Amino acid sequence: MADRAYDLVIYGATGFTGQLVAEYLARHAGTRSAEEPLRWALAGRSREKLRRVADALPEGADVGLIEADAGDGRSLEAMAAQARVLVTTVGPYAQLGEPLVKACLAAGTDYLDITGEPAFVDQLIERYDAEARDAGVLIINCCGFDSIPADLGTLFTVQQLPDGAPKSVRAYVKTRGKPSGGTWASLIGALADGIPKKAGSRGSGAGGTKRSGPKRKNMHREPLVGGWSLPMPVIDPLVVKRSSRAHPAYGEGFRYAQYLRLGSLAQVASLMGGIAGLFALSQTAPTRRWLLSRRPSGAGPSEEERAKGFFALTFIGESAGKQVVTRVSGGDPGYDETSKMLSESALLVASARDTLPIKGGVVTPAAAMGEALIERLQAVGIQFEVVSS
Ligand SMILES: NC(=O)c1ccc[n+]([C@@H]2O[C@H](COP(=O)([O-])OP(=O)(O)OC[C@H]3O[C@@H](n4cnc5c(N)ncnc54)[C@H](OP(=O)(O)O)[C@@H]3O)[C@@H](O)[C@H]2O)c1
Repeated sequence: MADRAYDLVIYGATGFTGQLVAEYLARHAGTRSAEEPLRWALAGRSREKLRRVADALPEGADVGLIEADAGDGRSLEAMAAQARVLVTTVGPYAQLGEPLVKACLAAGTDYLDITGEPAFVDQLIERYDAEARDAGVLIINCCGFDSIPADLGTLFTVQQLPDGAPKSVRAYVKTRGKPSGGTWASLIGALADGIPKKAGSRGSGAGGTKRSGPKRKNMHREPLVGGWSLPMPVIDPLVVKRSSRAHPAYGEGFRYAQYLRLGSLAQVASLMGGIAGLFALSQTAPTRRWLLSRRPSGAGPSEEERAKGFFALTFIGESAGKQVVTRVSGGDPGYDETSKMLSESALLVASARDTLPIKGGVVTPAAAMGEALIERLQAVGIQFEVVSS
């Protein structure tokens, strides 16, 4: 590994999120490694575009450039062989992601992404988990807003509860933020494909095979958070359940459910109407093309728009008659905080891999990086707090 040219490579550095990751690393990478500055590179399918991204980085950023196309397996292998850790923001992952995972496994390179696509993660668990464990390669999905706040927030919550009795956690999510072209394309793709019934539920080893049935409520009012709360059919609960099987803090019989918190019934109706409309329009090719053209690749919320964004997840944890309320919160969820979460995860793996509890497999953020990542995120402004106990 020491002979690799780079500690960290960011694949997709020309995209909206990839550029934010590059900027974050340009500001923070140098101060993060113990003895020497991190050796890192930007990667993508166009050297010219990569050069423009590198030129726009804060002065003094010393980055390499690597050309690789998601459709060209050889270029992916050559890129993976130059890196100890590879992070990718090239999506939609269901369309473009798998060949890179293969290339990382072949090269023995740790891999991190920010997918929120359950079908993609399910496919990786099924096809590559055993191989990754045998090879000692970490494949860590969902290192962005999907699913780090939910995954690490739940770990933080169960650690506040007494052991020895089944623990349950309900998470209530409140966010404000606008999607980028890449997120929009992933959403439309997922709606067009439909969510597989068992998505994210399989896996072995670090991922586990058992599925604990969630006792999910329908739309309800939770006095501790106010407003109306709706079940969220996102990847987070699937990730949290996999983490619960890999870390002792959750104990036996752990349950988790996640809800979106909205202020009024009018907001609930407007959200339902919006999703129904998107679902209908994503079913035929011409309407899908029209939807995709509304937010092209590379576009995303401006700095001013992102400055108005926020997220707050309130967790209500219960065990043996004790209740604890915790909160994880931060700024713009999709981009400013996602690029921070992905960068800090990658820096942790690049600088302290030996200290991590799991050495290989298709794994979740909490299982792979747990408390060490909570500490890093707290140090850079993402809050984990106990609200009441
Ligand atoms: N989980 C989360 O919280 C979260 C948050 C944000 C984003 N995301 C996900 O992250 C992904 C990226 O989002 P984004 O908004 O940054 O997307 P984007 O702006 O469209 O960027 C996509 C990137 O992929 C690259 N790419 C596309 N096709 C390629 C190919 N064949 N070979 C190599 N590179 C290729 C693009 O390169 P070019 O510049 O050359 O076109 C670009 O760098 C999406 O899947 C999105 O859903 C997740």
